Amino acid sequence: MNKKVIVTGGCGYIGSHTVVELIENGFETVVFDNLSNSKEFILDRIQQITGVKPQFEKVDLANAEASDKAYQKHADAIAIINFAAYKAVGESVQKPMMYYKNNLYALINSIEAQQKYGIYHFIFSSSATVYGEPDILPITEMNQIKRPFSPYGNTKKIAEEILEDFSKSNEAFKVVSLRYFNPIGAHNSGLIGELPNGIPNNLLPYITQCAAGVLKELQVFGDDYNTKDGTAIRDYIHVVDLAKAHVQSLERLLANKEEANFEVFNLGTGNGFTVLDIIKTFEKVAKVNLNYKIVDRRAGDVEALYAETQQAAEKLAWSATLNLEDMIRSSWNWEQSIRDITDKTSGEAKR
Ligand code: WQD
Repeated sequence: MNKKVIVTGGCGYIGSHTVVELIENGFETVVFDNLSNSKEFILDRIQQITGVKPQFEKVDLANAEASDKAYQKHADAIAIINFAAYKAVGESVQKPMMYYKNNLYALINSIEAQQKYGIYHFIFSSSATVYGEPDILPITEMNQIKRPFSPYGNTKKIAEEILEDFSKSNEAFKVVSLRYFNPIGAHNSGLIGELPNGIPNNLLPYITQCAAGVLKELQVFGDDYNTKDGTAIRDYIHVVDLAKAHVQSLERLLANKEEANFEVFNLGTGNGFTVLDIIKTFEKVAKVNLNYKIVDRRAGDVEALYAETQQAAEKLAWSATLNLEDMIRSSWNWEQSIRDITDKTSGEAKR
């Protein structure tokens, strides 16, 4: 049986980990990536891990003609897993149209290709940010969807609405949207992981670059939240657990087990940890003292986000298995392994 899967953004952080899991589950993978926020050498790293180098098309999916050409070449694919998107929350506030055009043009071009070439399964990389400031915790898939604070988050909300409408118009097409909580960590090999462009926005890469001496001091954004230690709570999930959920989602669709043409699943652990929990766990695992100071809250941050995970457990036969120490140990291992390929001052990958 043909098991070719197109992974857009497959050279990126979550995309590359998903490609590894797909290969290890017997799928043939083709990576579409414009390398705007990733590096091509990640494909060689995937080959080092799995023994298989994914096929690769360097393509800007926001360009309709280029996108169609790439999809036409791989029209025999059975599924598209869509990671290709810009994802820096702060940058999206500064440059909203860059985010709306890139993220939504790429999505729409991919949906049109799916329709034109009859690729019947679509898995979308969404985010818990679509819940905004939750009224109820833990967050279930039935929680009210709100206007996300950032244009980045809003592209995820709009994309889900487009996919839902598209899947309703076409019985044959099945869509699963996966709402990630906070992905952290890296593959245990230390060969793939997060390669932030410039100064990291997210907590873990910022912490590991501080510990590696690339950055001087971590700023903790607020300790006046209504939590055990005043710092904000998130549901951190290991990127390898997250990658496995994409394979489980694909298997669900291939087995025709879906209960609707458009389904959404929260991907979290169901556990919430504060920023200070993360700092303390990092210091314990890495055996280093972190230099940090408490500053004002960051605009747009919410007090607490953590997932209700029953739907994914029941319908994807998936639950997170790796704990916080596993996540943080793998992040630190990755940071140390990339020291030789990243610029000592900017932390950016040189290769
Ligand atoms: C986590 C916690 C910060 C940095 C965002 C997107 C989400 C997803 C993951 C993008 C918060 C605190 C952070 C720092 C800090 N998608 N923090 N100092 O904001 O929960 O989610 O990234 O890939 O869609 O919204 O993640 O890692 O930025 O922050 O104190 O230098 O750490 O306030 O409480 P966030 P984050």
